[in-house]
Amino acid sequence: MSPRPISRRRALVFGGAGVAALAVGTAGWITTAGSTSAGGPGAAGEPLARPPELTARDGRLQVELVAAAGARLAGQDTRALGFNGSSPGPTLRVRPGDELAVRLTNRLDQPTNLHTHGLRVSPEGNGDNPFVRIDPGASFDYRILVPADHPPGTHWYHPHHHGAVADQLFGGLAGALLVDGGRALPVDDDRLLLVTDTTLATDGTVAPVGPPERMFGREGRLVLVNGQYRPVVPAAPGRAQRWRLVNGCTSRVLAVRLEGHTLQQIAQDGTFLPSPAPRQQLVLAPGNRADVVVQPDRAGRFTLIADPYDRGSGMGGAPASTGPVPLATLVVDGPAAVAPALPATLPAEPPPASATATRSTSFRMGMGGMRGGRGDAMPMSFTVDGRAYDPDRDDQIVAAGTVEEWTVTNTGPLAHPFHLHVWPFTVVAASDGRPPLGVPQDVVLVPPGGWVRLRIPFTTHTGRSVYHCHILDHEDAGMMATITVR
Ligand code: C2O
Ligand code: CU
Ligand code: CU
Repeated sequence: MSPRPISRRRALVFGGAGVAALAVGTAGWITTAGSTSAGGPGAAGEPLARPPELTARDGRLQVELVAAAGARLAGQDTRALGFNGSSPGPTLRVRPGDELAVRLTNRLDQPTNLHTHGLRVSPEGNGDNPFVRIDPGASFDYRILVPADHPPGTHWYHPHHHGAVADQLFGGLAGALLVDGGRALPVDDDRLLLVTDTTLATDGTVAPVGPPERMFGREGRLVLVNGQYRPVVPAAPGRAQRWRLVNGCTSRVLAVRLEGHTLQQIAQDGTFLPSPAPRQQLVLAPGNRADVVVQPDRAGRFTLIADPYDRGSGMGGAPASTGPVPLATLVVDGPAAVAPALPATLPAEPPPASATATRSTSFRMGMGGMRGGRGDAMPMSFTVDGRAYDPDRDDQIVAAGTVEEWTVTNTGPLAHPFHLHVWPFTVVAASDGRPPLGVPQDVVLVPPGGWVRLRIPFTTHTGRSVYHCHILDHEDAGMMATITVR
């Protein structure tokens, strides 16, 4: 099947960008997220690339990141945003006990900042501080101390300036942040698969997004892995690979499966599971990570697919993708080998002590004109406990050293991924009966009209930070609250 353009009707349904929002490259290829073709010329089928890696030496990683338009994306020179000209930006690799020193320079036309999503580090001062504002032309020096007892794992970084987060992530600003060390696994390859989505206009700029897409949470028509369109992952029969899957999409939930294979999940959100867990499908909310081991047992071509996921469609929005989206192709050939078996148990963290206090909070949508990140009138309001985000208001004050049990409810018709900075939580129960993973994670989907119950140890860092919906259009529209641990 050849690539098909989005129909006029569908372009109208999504309004705003309209038909101009198709991605048309120099070779004239057109792609849509719902297409199942192998892609146009110069697009699909390149070997999976590794973003540039910057690795800590002697306890320190000092890097300069410049956020600017003009990144290479899907094999084309575009006006998409990148760090140091690259989307995703460089992979930052640190070890427990290291210092991460980042000088971030803003060459965008709006304020930005940096969040180290998943790191259990101080949110204060020039640490992982979401209240920092870096104006266009300015630089800021972050100094992030990774505790010596920080678990090794897969995390990521992205901008977090309220009101511009969705546009900047959708624009291309994201990168992986790995904490190395810990137990070596019997794998031949260790690969990053950072998934992002965006929509490019014909002139190579990122297409503007209108109020209906912001209300539902925008989904891009191009779904990319490490900035590539449907790359190829080479493998040999019998050999095992570790894949670090990161959902870096602005709003899209990735329900991932690999044709003809079971994924052995070993970690979620940078924390090991107690033992490898076989998955036919893995649901990753925006912000979630999963480390999986892939061990093909025969030669062939197998597609890594994101299946459609219903985030709720009651409020006039609809997912931009209605069919399965091919992400990448596993190409297995060469002589067969036998990989050593995965260990039966993994270094999981023990479950947190029982809670000493309870608290509840809720994601709510209501009628009423809020303003979106670009100043567009929003037909709905997005709040936490009925209040839109105010950085100067203290919403939750928690006593340092305690373990709390939180009930997060969702009164609306759309699923909202709950995310808390700095202090990962263990899911205890969910209204839809999902079996909890039993280990710390930092993003969890709260079903429409449902709830999740979380246990959160506030035993590491003190300071002020935020929790929010990780559909970043919702966060930018006000679905975020402050938390102070002291
Ligand atoms: Cu991925 Cu508040 O962040
Ligand atoms: Cu975060
Ligand atoms: Cu939301």
